[in-house]
Amino acid sequence: MSADQVEAPPFPQRRTCPYQPPDSYREIAERGPLNEVTLWNGRRVWLFTGYAESREILSDPRLSSDRSFDAYPTMAPHLGAEEARKLVLVGEDPPSHDLHRRLLNPEFGLKHARALRPRIESDINGLIDAIEKKGPPSDLVPDFAVPIPGLAMSALLGIPYEDHDFFQEATAGVMQARDEDQTNAAGKALFGYLDKLVTAQEKNPGDELLGRLARRVLDGEVGHEELVQLSMVLLIAGLETTSSMIPLSLVALFDHPDQLEALREGRVTIQSAVEELLRITAVTDFGGVRWVTEDIDIAGRRLKAGDGIVISSTMANRDPAVHDDPYTFDLARGSRQHLTFGFGIHQCLGQSLARTQLEVAFETLLRRLPQLRPAVPTTELKMRQSGTMQGLVTLPVTW
Ligand code: HEM
Repeated sequence: MSADQVEAPPFPQRRTCPYQPPDSYREIAERGPLNEVTLWNGRRVWLFTGYAESREILSDPRLSSDRSFDAYPTMAPHLGAEEARKLVLVGEDPPSHDLHRRLLNPEFGLKHARALRPRIESDINGLIDAIEKKGPPSDLVPDFAVPIPGLAMSALLGIPYEDHDFFQEATAGVMQARDEDQTNAAGKALFGYLDKLVTAQEKNPGDELLGRLARRVLDGEVGHEELVQLSMVLLIAGLETTSSMIPLSLVALFDHPDQLEALREGRVTIQSAVEELLRITAVTDFGGVRWVTEDIDIAGRRLKAGDGIVISSTMANRDPAVHDDPYTFDLARGSRQHLTFGFGIHQCLGQSLARTQLEVAFETLLRRLPQLRPAVPTTELKMRQSGTMQGLVTLPVTW
């Protein structure tokens, strides 16, 4: 390794275990709560690995999420694409961010997630019926993990599930593309699709989220294009995250039979288990990407205006100052002290919905298929190549 690579190692790096970070991240974190790393394009940015420091910086108003500035760190080649840069909400700063959050927050509380729960339960039972009918083996990526958020988001927004092949492929196309062209093509196709749906809702508003928001367009509170962009970000944020997390979590459970048994036998609650699965898998190695608008002093370092910042939720979730024995997977830990949903003004809007889907998914699957086990050694499972969102290509199981 060259001196430069030691000083500012490459980031992100591939996970070899689906739910544990590469050893090199541990070495970075052991040097201190923030360190310089080098992105794919040679740019140096600050990587935050300390839990307290990550929360402190994510609460600082001198940071920006605005991706239209060159100072915003591009984490992978395709994320430089216009369609990825113009995402509303997640890519906005106050005051427009506040306006959009105020519009959407009332739709994403615990109450709303609870109201959707029976529908989520019945959809997940339907998926398991189909898995049982087909008989073993089953690939839980296409048969279980991908349809769960597809069904939930279509129920929430009021989008026809018959279109799921298209909208799931297009959202994956934006997030997991090979290059900018692919991201732009997927983003434009998704925009066109949602534009038509929103227009139809404006003519004849339904009772689901898109219909309720279309009424706000008619009242002049939101623009038509603004609503299309908001629905686009909701779909992108709501699908890939949850569908990637389910297989990673199942592998973590399969690899720890004692923990799996404790969950099956009710010795740990499903809520506690989901919290530990969120903490340990983290899904993405960069839970928050920002740039600095004014010099900031933090943890003995000076961050200069224009510097890029990346929060490693993976490592902040393993900060030994917060969790004893942080690499140990312990479902009984059940701590919400993790940054898997981010922190500060951009903290995940859909976290109650995500928790509900994960709780129902694991609880129902383990109850209905008590003999469930991997059909190949978990060490042979192939991880998705894109470094944006961690995930498995396939998860063959039997029972
Ligand atoms: C396991 C599942 C999920 C994980 C790990 C996750 C993670 C995250 C993280 C880390 C952020 C913060 C990004 C930042 O600070 O830049 C975020 C924001 C967001 N999430 Fe999630 N998410 C999940 C599920 C969902 C679901 C189901 C929805 C449903 C619509 C959703 C919608 C959003 C939205 C709209 C934002 C942007 C909020 C803002 O910028 O104000 N997420 N999510």
